[in-house]
Amino acid sequence: MCGIVGYIGTRQAAPVILDGLEKLEYRGYDSAGMAVYNGTSIEMVKAMGRLKVLFELTHGGETLPGTAGIGHTRWATHGQPSDLNSHPHMNTEGTISVVHNGIIENYIALKNKLLKKGYKFLSETDTEVIAHLLDYYYKGNPMEAIIKVMHRVEGSYAFGILFSEFPDRIFAVRKSSPLIVGQSKEGCFIASDVPAILKYTRQVCFIEDQEIVCLRRDGLKFYSVDEEEIEKEPVTIEWDTNAAEKGGYEHFMLKEIYEQPKTVFDTLNPRIRNNEVVIEELGMTDEEIRNLGKIFIVACGSAYHTGVTAKYVFEGMARIPVEVDIASEFRYRDPIIDENDWVIVISQSGETADTLAALREAHKRGSKVLGIVNVVGSSIAREADNVMYTWAGPEISVATTKAYSAQLIALYLLALKFAWVRGELSADELKAYIKDLRRLPDQIELLLGCKGRIQKFANRYIAAKDIFFIGRGIDYAISLEGSLKLKEISYVHSEAYAAGELKHGTISLIEEGTLVASVLTQESLYQKTISNIVEVKSRGAFVIAVTNEGNTEIEKAADYVVYIPQTNRYFTNSLAIIPLQLFGYYVAVGKGCDVDKPRNLAKSVTVE
Ligand code: AGP
Repeated sequence: MCGIVGYIGTRQAAPVILDGLEKLEYRGYDSAGMAVYNGTSIEMVKAMGRLKVLFELTHGGETLPGTAGIGHTRWATHGQPSDLNSHPHMNTEGTISVVHNGIIENYIALKNKLLKKGYKFLSETDTEVIAHLLDYYYKGNPMEAIIKVMHRVEGSYAFGILFSEFPDRIFAVRKSSPLIVGQSKEGCFIASDVPAILKYTRQVCFIEDQEIVCLRRDGLKFYSVDEEEIEKEPVTIEWDTNAAEKGGYEHFMLKEIYEQPKTVFDTLNPRIRNNEVVIEELGMTDEEIRNLGKIFIVACGSAYHTGVTAKYVFEGMARIPVEVDIASEFRYRDPIIDENDWVIVISQSGETADTLAALREAHKRGSKVLGIVNVVGSSIAREADNVMYTWAGPEISVATTKAYSAQLIALYLLALKFAWVRGELSADELKAYIKDLRRLPDQIELLLGCKGRIQKFANRYIAAKDIFFIGRGIDYAISLEGSLKLKEISYVHSEAYAAGELKHGTISLIEEGTLVASVLTQESLYQKTISNIVEVKSRGAFVIAVTNEGNTEIEKAADYVVYIPQTNRYFTNSLAIIPLQLFGYYVAVGKGCDVDKPRNLAKSVTVE
């Protein structure tokens, strides 16, 4: 996510802003900038790269004198990382400056309207639209301009705004993206997150959606979107900086597990319009989709696991044959790719060496490649023919959770798009699937409520030596990810098995007390997996089952059951994975492992 810091008070603003942005570096970013009112006009410095670049460009802020300013660290979503795409963005006259965290979903339509009115754009970002839209509505009253913009903009935002004609104040407003304000005897602050201002004040107000804040040197005023003044009580932050970076969570992994409802929403919402799936970045005509031969899905680790899920979804929903490959295998197996075949590579980091090599291998064989990537401007994003970004924000913990969930959403959307274009879905069926998709964020939120129960259960298995995950169909794909989450952070050996395959050897490993996690979300395969549970139980296993609400008779077979809310059979992975993520997390915490930085692992495996 991007980071915003703003300050107005008695001190020089630039050093305060730089200091605050440094405290937000943990959020991940690719460029930084700030704008300060220097007594006569707004002066701006911004650059691609680390904060150090901005620090050096401004000699620690000295070359940007002034006591009112806004700053930003950018995590690119629209437009490559570059100097021009960095924030702040300004109107052409340089009298309005804005920094933004979020995604403006209707920025293309707004940009086209402004272009028709003669506005000139310098960047590829959605944010620059806001600077010109504020200019368009500004007739001398900042609040009026801001409120008009709020009525026109769709999507998520937290804005920090400077008007050169009102140098004694900074404005801030938010919708869906976090924003806090603080006050000390030296002035007032805005920030995306608490760590940025803890050094100056622990008295913080959390801004609610559609609220506007006007910061002056001597105080704060809060307004509703109807310009009614609002009273807000500050809260005292007890966290230390380290805890604050994790939003009060013990680890980034838990924070990111809890960010999944928002991640799923952010990846989903901009791509559904009027009950249609709209994937502007797909780069395929309907004709090409109809002529699609086979799809190869190629990735590593958890990204590969989403591909295994996608095989069942694409083949079931769109009736398109899918081959799923581990990238390090694909690149050496001399794959047979026909001219109507298509390759999808999936990567959170966009830098995984094997996946990048697989992409190049596909290109060498003349295939088009779609990248499903989380990091804008990464190598895979740059080399793929088209990129469908997951908007999960930076993922800090080595073990992926929110990016994995966002990748699933991207794949569901692709499958729906393909199925619709190829006439495999009726309008009612498409509507029903979209309805189920839209319910996922709330259902994930609900499942996160089972944290305490999972933690209690996990504590019984911190001494476990072997844990098996079994499932059939999509449940097998879920088992693969549940098993990887557990072993990579807790170092407990674990295997995922197609439940029907156990009897072909592995069941010999099951003995008294062996924990078997069984996933049963596919109603058509439910009874089959129940019989596998009986098989392992008869050999002494302790069985935890993850299944759909309502399957209560499973309590006769399994020792411990976690229910997931009802959704259609193709989307159950997005729900069943939540208790399995929490299980792996709490086993690792119980064992005292370094959850965010497990031994031997890197967040991005850039070597073969
Ligand atoms: C997942 O928790 C692991 N960190 C690892 O398997 C990861 O999914 C794999 O290395 C692929 O990374 P990528 O998505 O950045 O390409």
